[in-house]
Amino acid sequence: MTYPDGHQGRLVTSHSLVRAVLADPRFSSRYELMHYPLPGGPEGELPPAPPGDMTGMDAPEHTRFRRLLAGRFTVRRMRLLTDRVEEITAEHLDAMEAGGPGIDLVQAFAQPIPALMICELLGVPFADRDAFHGFVTALMSLDSTPDERMAAMTGLQEYMYGLVLAKRARPTDDLLSDLTTSDLTDEELTGVGGFLLGAGLDTTANMLAHGTFALLRHPGQLAVLRDRPDLADQAVEELMRYLSIAHTMVRVALEDVELDGETIRAGETVTLSIQAANRDPERFEDPDRLDLRRRATGQLGFGHGIHLGALGTHRPRAAILCGLRHPDDAAADHLLVRMAPEQHELDPARRPDRRRIQLVQSAQDHSAGRQSSPVVRLPGERRPPAHGPHPVRGCCLRTRHLITAT
Ligand code: HEM
Repeated sequence: MTYPDGHQGRLVTSHSLVRAVLADPRFSSRYELMHYPLPGGPEGELPPAPPGDMTGMDAPEHTRFRRLLAGRFTVRRMRLLTDRVEEITAEHLDAMEAGGPGIDLVQAFAQPIPALMICELLGVPFADRDAFHGFVTALMSLDSTPDERMAAMTGLQEYMYGLVLAKRARPTDDLLSDLTTSDLTDEELTGVGGFLLGAGLDTTANMLAHGTFALLRHPGQLAVLRDRPDLADQAVEELMRYLSIAHTMVRVALEDVELDGETIRAGETVTLSIQAANRDPERFEDPDRLDLRRRATGQLGFGHGIHLGALGTHRPRAAILCGLRHPDDAAADHLLVRMAPEQHELDPARRPDRRRIQLVQSAQDHSAGRQSSPVVRLPGERRPPAHGPHPVRGCCLRTRHLITAT
């Protein structure tokens, strides 16, 4: 494949080969060795990973950060986080219901919940959350001007640095405070905070929005899930496979490597299409079909190998964040239960804003005393995006680079 800068590299699309490359230490993740595969990317050589950005490092540097983080994503911490995320989710659903018709799912649900989850994880004090959320919103909004985005990045980075100093001085019960007991420098801690924000924000927001969208486009599947809440974990795997939110990853051969009868030369950039791998018919039968009864184990949406996303904590958290399941399995108070499927309408006439999924609560159903019953107005038929939300790599390289570029 010819890369935008003229580099002759590779594109890997089969599930088994993508998996093999991700597991092979002869392929590096270092940004500075890569050629950017997608048009419109950064020009010239990529800078090395900034401090704290684990996805752009190889062992042993990567191992140091990975161990430090993994040791602190404890069961107890995840349990506390899960409880808080549940409360936050319920509050947002109540607010959406109270807000009445015309609620925007992305603004009211998909964006704020991951942002607040990261506030909880990092221990952002309540008093600072409006300011924090303001930066994040400006950074993520497609309507922000470059100047607004740059100001938000600078603000976030300064905020994160101040937060690190505050946690050092007065530790609280959160991940960032825990990390101040490690040998990480202030700069590295600031980088880790920014990295986690970039890793968890856009990805989760997109999963929430596109996951809801996909289920509404497949009412039969939504019905399956409503009838069988015990399928939630499996359903998340299938949605991860089907949507492949983190659609592209990149590696570089550190030496000549034989792959499927081809020799990949040292220095060649190898682009891995997660979307293609997750829809490889050799691995998944009838791969273009969303089928929540399918066991989509082995899907590569969180990556594979040493960089496997979010340290093993992804799945349960994603299930909850996708609004599919209450952690005590009561299945009483989550997005899908509150959305009665018969009330979802697709409105092809409503085209202007292709980025928004609007939930419009049905007054009729509400007055009948049922739980929320939004009508969903969408801009017409659309396949899952050919190019997902991030230009490349798993966890929002764009946001992370922007954060660290200041
Ligand atoms: C649905 C949401 C998410 C998706 C699709 C996703 C996807 C991914 C992918 C594909 C990778 C591997 C990148 C690579 O190999 O180059 C990754 C790594 C990572 N993700 Fe996520 N992620 C999500 C949410 C989160 C959240 C919420 C967090 C934590 C706040 C998180 C933290 C991380 C970390 C720490 C890594 C780096 C692992 C490493 O380099 O060792 N992710 N993620």
